[in-house]
Amino acid sequence: MAGTTSVGGTPVSSNLFRTKSVEQSIQDTEEPEYALKKALSTLDLTVFGVGVVIGTGIFVLTGKIAKETAGPAVALAFVVAGVVCGLAALCYAEFASTVPVAGSAYTFSYATLGELPAWIIGWDLILELALGCAVVAVGWSGYIRSLMDTAGLSMPQALSGTHNGVFGFDVLACLLVIILTGILVVGVKLSSRVTAIVVAVKVTVVLLVIVVGAFFITGSNYHPFIPPAQHGEGGTGVSAPLIELMFGFNPGAFGVMGIFTGAAVVFFAFIGFDIVATTAEETLNPQRDVPRGILGSLFICTVLYVAVSIVVTGMQKYTELSTDAPLADAFKSVGHPFWAGLISFGAAVGLTSVCMILLLGQSRVFFAMSRDGLLPMFFSHVHPKFGTPYRSTILLGGIVAIVAGFTSIDVLAELVNIGTLFAFVMVAVGVVILRRKRPDLPRSFRTPLVPLIPALSVLASFWLMLNLPAETWIRFAIWMAVGVVVYFTYSSRSSRLRQFRDAR
Ligand code: ALA
Repeated sequence: MAGTTSVGGTPVSSNLFRTKSVEQSIQDTEEPEYALKKALSTLDLTVFGVGVVIGTGIFVLTGKIAKETAGPAVALAFVVAGVVCGLAALCYAEFASTVPVAGSAYTFSYATLGELPAWIIGWDLILELALGCAVVAVGWSGYIRSLMDTAGLSMPQALSGTHNGVFGFDVLACLLVIILTGILVVGVKLSSRVTAIVVAVKVTVVLLVIVVGAFFITGSNYHPFIPPAQHGEGGTGVSAPLIELMFGFNPGAFGVMGIFTGAAVVFFAFIGFDIVATTAEETLNPQRDVPRGILGSLFICTVLYVAVSIVVTGMQKYTELSTDAPLADAFKSVGHPFWAGLISFGAAVGLTSVCMILLLGQSRVFFAMSRDGLLPMFFSHVHPKFGTPYRSTILLGGIVAIVAGFTSIDVLAELVNIGTLFAFVMVAVGVVILRRKRPDLPRSFRTPLVPLIPALSVLASFWLMLNLPAETWIRFAIWMAVGVVVYFTYSSRSSRLRQFRDAR
């Protein structure tokens, strides 16, 4: 991109938009000091995908959204969110199969959009993955406490996290993150084996809800399927969806708009399929395995989510669903506490794998950014024995452990969603740019109907973003503004690409 203003003879915009060539990205991963071990197969990736995708979204948010925002039409909210993710997945899959190195959307945009957009995406992904992991760890801790209650044990309030304004440190969430960080430092192969067992438990529990729950459906619970809109029930002021404030709607809940407001939140349930792309560098045959892993895990999850929400809202009237453990409590409501206990146990086990893969994803993005010199290169050394980026894993694991100890779920989940949707927009734009700039690159997976699908992906992601609260937009803008300051004060100067260019 040609620059018009120049500083010291170098056009400003050509610095900000300098791109790292795809060949350079791949070559970097082959330097022995920074190379990750290639050990993952299609099956590992699909297990990874399903392992991270099914989590707090379906186990917790289903009940909350059905009860407060969409009624039984929460199933449609899952369909809407699934379509948005499907469009993004088609773009992610092309990118991942063209630029098979660690870092996901960050790496893809460095090869296409330029250094500043890549930095913005990387910064955004750290927010998505770190906060996402904290959210899931807190959700996990809630399920464990619920199981402890059933067994007659209880945690002191001060060690159970913050509830209803009463402050507490969530010691279980914090401990979970610390233990998982240790597993990730020891190696990806070990953690994917652990994940495989955990995923099997989780999918079994979800299937159990669908198959057993189907026998307890009462048809009248589906009426009304889309409850009539209730104005004044939704958020007010900055807590209302931005779209409602923009067009001066009376913020409300339910009705057709409630499906979209709900979709913007249950979208959290799909977060993670994109993380499969972050492990491309550790995959045996990334050109073939990564697109299969991404699309396969997304498809499986969408079908399961719709089925679970239809069954649960059929078992119990949406107005009576629980917002803490809706899947388990629906079984209690039909007089089957045994099934409820089993489901709670499976949910707690399942959330462990979600938390671990989010941690893995964020350490890889951080690793890739530091390898490029945009973050201190100290963090990009891999462990001599385990072949893992242990320094970035330990740093981020420590931060997430603290955040998980101190935060509550709701607000953070919305912030995670807006960050992820923003990354989807950037990736879709990147696919189109890369097709124009580098039509010659081999692509084992090609997004169909370019530029129509990427354009639809941008519109769909942006639409969901508009359905998030205005205050979420403000928080997101602040995080991104901090990122831009860090870029101009540190990253842009220490960029390896810049040093390489300057040396020539
Ligand atoms: N999709 C993941 C979940 O639902 C993040 O917990």
